[in-house]
Amino acid sequence: MSRLKPHRLTKQLKGHSEMTTHKQVLLFPEEQGRFEIPKPVNVASVPQRSPFRYPGGKTWFVPTFRHWISTIYPKPNIIIEPFAGGGIVSLTALFEDLLQKAIMVELDDEIAAVWESIVKGDAEWLAHRILAFELSRESVVSELKKIPSTSREKAFQTILKNRTFHGGILAEGSGFLKYGENGKGIHSRWYPTTIAKRFLNLNNIADRIDFRCYDGLTVIQEYADRHDVIYFIDPPYTAGGKKAGKRLYKHYDLDHEHLFELCETLKGNFLMTYDNADEVKAMARSHRFQMRLIPMTNTHHATIEELVISRDLSWMDAFPAVHEPQTEYALQSIKKV
Ligand SMILES: C[S@@+](CC[C@H](N)C(=O)[O-])C[C@H]1O[C@@H](n2cnc3c(N)ncnc32)[C@H](O)[C@@H]1O
Repeated sequence: MSRLKPHRLTKQLKGHSEMTTHKQVLLFPEEQGRFEIPKPVNVASVPQRSPFRYPGGKTWFVPTFRHWISTIYPKPNIIIEPFAGGGIVSLTALFEDLLQKAIMVELDDEIAAVWESIVKGDAEWLAHRILAFELSRESVVSELKKIPSTSREKAFQTILKNRTFHGGILAEGSGFLKYGENGKGIHSRWYPTTIAKRFLNLNNIADRIDFRCYDGLTVIQEYADRHDVIYFIDPPYTAGGKKAGKRLYKHYDLDHEHLFELCETLKGNFLMTYDNADEVKAMARSHRFQMRLIPMTNTHHATIEELVISRDLSWMDAFPAVHEPQTEYALQSIKKV
């Protein structure tokens, strides 16, 4: 295959943006007027930098992430994303020069093949491979039957699956998009020029990514004493036996309590996102972390609430705070002493 110069290939690629909407609604309508609700985030205005359409992806969180970084002083050097998935937060941090370096950690070997290929310098190869592929149900089935002999071939298969499987889900039990967008079936999320362009762009920041196919908790622990590090922690949502994360990811089993314990030991700042589940709120309370709710519109256009958890969320004062059961909290604190 010919090796085009990145700028030549870039010229061939015309943008094709994936549209997602994000609507901000009041969680507690009776409290209207008490909070200055932040302006609605239009996700279409957030640059889509990840080559993945990732289940549980955090593109909608990018504006809040930028805000968070702007409040941290002194400026940290490294961002650690221990559950990287599609990695949009780390990518944003690097492309927008918010931090120098990103340590991205992901256990899924297929996702890992993509990040490893980018870091090894195979982004351009992947861009060409995507542009050259003639997509049909038969061609995808035949491609996915092959046993990949290199990491970049495995990366290509991963992107193919991610873009043609229902919801981008790679976990067992997932299958081809049946109807997709406007009845376009497996073609509906396959935008070769857009995806190829994203890979080429990733070449510009690849040398600032330290990717590890490893356990995120171990990497958090490794950096626990560093002050110049921040953590964006977006684990699979499986606390309290919740099913969402099990359906979406191959690796969903996580000791959530251990994660909270680790966070308490960190010298650097951290931000966690979680589903608004009672078990999660109980863990956050018992570790004396703060919580805020962010309303977001999911892929089914339903409004759901996500929790943001950290030591200090005063910079999010405009967001609705989670109602604290004061008495229980006081009793719990006394018990602990
Ligand atoms: C909620 S998703 C992260 C989505 C990501 N923030 C994004 O924007 O695309 C959680 C990810 O954690 C990964 N994962 C699960 N357990 C892990 C572990 N112990 N270490 C590293 N990654 C893990 C899953 O494979 C999944 O990709």
